[in-house]
Amino acid sequence: MDRLILHADLPKGRIRKGIQGQFSEHLGRCIYGGLYVGEQSEIPNVNGIRQDVVQALREIRIPVLRWPGGCFADEYHWKDGIGPKETRKKMINTHWGGVTEDNSFGTHEFMELCRQLGCDAYICGNVGSGTVQEMSEWVEYMTSDAISPMTELRKQNGRQEPWRLPFFGVGNESWGCGGNMTPEYYANEYRRYQTFVRQYRPEEKIYKIACGPSDFNYEWTEVLMRNAGRYMDGLSLHYYTVPHEWSKKGSALDFTAEDYYTTIQKTLRMEEIITRHSAIMDQYDPEKRVGLIVDEWGTWYDVEEGTNPGFLYQQNTMRDAIVAGLNLNIFNRHCDRVHMANIAQMINVLQAMILTEGPAMIKTPSYYAFKLFCGHQENQLLESHMLSLPHHTAQGDLPGLQESASLAADGTVHVTIVNPALDEAREVKIDVLGKAVQAVGGEILTGAMDDHNSFDRPDAVADRPYTDFATAQDGLTAKIPPCSIVHLTIR
Ligand code: AHR
Repeated sequence: MDRLILHADLPKGRIRKGIQGQFSEHLGRCIYGGLYVGEQSEIPNVNGIRQDVVQALREIRIPVLRWPGGCFADEYHWKDGIGPKETRKKMINTHWGGVTEDNSFGTHEFMELCRQLGCDAYICGNVGSGTVQEMSEWVEYMTSDAISPMTELRKQNGRQEPWRLPFFGVGNESWGCGGNMTPEYYANEYRRYQTFVRQYRPEEKIYKIACGPSDFNYEWTEVLMRNAGRYMDGLSLHYYTVPHEWSKKGSALDFTAEDYYTTIQKTLRMEEIITRHSAIMDQYDPEKRVGLIVDEWGTWYDVEEGTNPGFLYQQNTMRDAIVAGLNLNIFNRHCDRVHMANIAQMINVLQAMILTEGPAMIKTPSYYAFKLFCGHQENQLLESHMLSLPHHTAQGDLPGLQESASLAADGTVHVTIVNPALDEAREVKIDVLGKAVQAVGGEILTGAMDDHNSFDRPDAVADRPYTDFATAQDGLTAKIPPCSIVHLTIR
């Protein structure tokens, strides 16, 4: 039997809600069709934003949304996306399918979306093809309430009050699609651009995020922390789970157990990646003031056959839910350094929460994985130790059960346990130290590795109540089925 030692009386630090953040880019059908349908649409909407999607996302308490990219951010000129829609400039979305971007979704629409979702805004500015002035004016437009040209312009466009802008990114993937810069060059650019990301209202702090590394590029982190660390609040990190080669990534739906385990092994590398980047950050920032912002992560497969290759549309199965659960547990356990994470992307792109087809909408297994983790938001991480035997696979040993645990303000302990094995149920004895167990509840998400929701069977995968446990004064014993995520609440 596996064993989990849970120290309910040893809080280790805040799990910021932003760890469960999302990312939405002007890419494929993420914004247009997925989130925004326009006021004239027959799809029920408020100010052009579809309400089925808003309602579904509110249920998983989206804390923060990143926009407008991604690669798109470094070719986005914000002034093209304000003012009367008829006069907004059209542009080519060169990164994503070469389609026409009509700029009907711009700053006002994004802020309205955040209002409807009840989430924080995280905007990524253009360093690659934009100027310092352009970035500076955007921040002024959004956040100033003084007398100034940009404040007046915002008012003319119908918005009197400034918006809250809690998070601002200075460029995206500046080592690649954002300008192919060297770390030394970008560090200088970051220092210059961020100087003019002004703090117009001191009570509304803007948390500034520098473009960080991807994957295993530890040199980027080293240079950025050394040369610009003191000017940033956060440093981004991108790591995608690609089962095979970038040229032939593998199918989202049609995969073998071998593919599944390869995907799990690759996604678990997030642990090593965060640990090693954090160790470099520790040398320059031992107080852990600067957050690691994992603002792009998730699975990336070959696009669904028959869809535009530039739109990155893929289905989503229980494999994706397990990937989500494993990563969310990793982020929780690293909450001293990981301040935010944004899965790519919220709708119709890569590892999405929601898929739409015209007026129809389905929630994916990843959506339900996020639902099971909501209870951790803003809790204190708890010290926990899982003693779980490895799971043997043809691809090598996989760690057994993976967990994270937290303490909510009302005294409830939340535990999320992931069993990534496909053919082995586990029984785990959970010793709860420092708390008398009075009541236990839970939910589970489980299924075969390729179970998924489709427009014909929208409810094939969903969370359900979990009761397969026996409680005692000092803890409980729980059965964790294969390919599952269990969320326990211990009162
Ligand atoms: O999420 C899709 C793309 O992946 C983003 O635009 C880019 O930042 C990354 O390479």
